[in-house]
Formats: sequence, structure tokens, C-alpha cells
Amino acid sequence: MKNIKIIHGPNLNLLGLRDTQHYGTLSLDELNNRIETAAAEKGATCQIFQFNSEVDIIDTLQKNATCDGIVINPAAFTHTSIAIRDAIEAISAPVVEVHLSNVYKRESFRHVSYTAPVCVGQISGLGWQGYLLALDYLLNLS
Ligand code: DQA
Repeated sequence: MKNIKIIHGPNLNLLGLRDTQHYGTLSLDELNNRIETAAAEKGATCQIFQFNSEVDIIDTLQKNATCDGIVINPAAFTHTSIAIRDAIEAISAPVVEVHLSNVYKRESFRHVSYTAPVCVGQISGLGWQGYLLALDYLLNLS
């Protein structure tokens, strides 16, 4: 059975309360329920993490270096963190970057992703569905 890791970055614990125009009204628990349900329907399991700290994200990437796949929303660290980029580059698990909002329609500082070039791909602007699409992609890898 495939096991996919989901890593939510800083401030995503505030989903549903924070900037709902960009991030929607689902809470993190509701989003996680949808991800877990989708994984179960496809005969897979997933383990979900949310961290406000860069260190915890890096440690979790390293600990899961050889898992079946990782969906990561590095949140603001996307635009700042060479350390998270290096961690993704160093592991062999395929990593998909997801953003709820379309970062390319927003402030110019959000147009730069340090992490996307070392991910398999990036999904941006499809809201919570982006996570399910990334999960589907990883589960279909042979
Ligand atoms: C985000 C976009 C980032 O620019 C922002 O800092 C976030 C959330 C998104 O999911 O759209 O915290 O990653």
C-alpha cells in the first residue's frame, strides 16, 4: 500500500480564518479530511503534517527521503527558503509543490519559488483540489 506524506507549511493551520479570498473557507481539518478520504478511496494511506518552522519541514523531508511521494505546500517558505529547496533536492522521493492560490496572480515576491525547480511539478491556484490532483499523480506513478 502506498503511503504519501503531506506537508503544510507556516500559517496553513489558520486556513478558513486567514485571507479567505485567496485561501478559501475550508479549515485545515476539513482539507485534511478530504485528502485522507481521497487516499483511502484509492487504497492508499497518507500522513499529514503542518509546521510553522522551517527546521521541522526539513527534518520531515529528510526522515521521509524514500517514501512513495510527498505533497508540500511550503507556504511563505516557497519564496525564501534555499534550505527547504536543498532538502527536497537531496531526497529521492518525488515531491509535488501545491499552492491554494495562484501565486502568479499575486504580489511579485510570490512569483519566485525556490522550491519548484527541484520538485516534479507545481500546482498553483486550484484551491484544495490541487492537493487531490497532486495525490492522484503520485499514486499513479509506478
Ligand atoms: C500559499 C501561497 C504563499 O505565497 C503564501 O505565503 C501562503 C500560502 C498558497 O497556498 O497559496 O502562505 O502557499
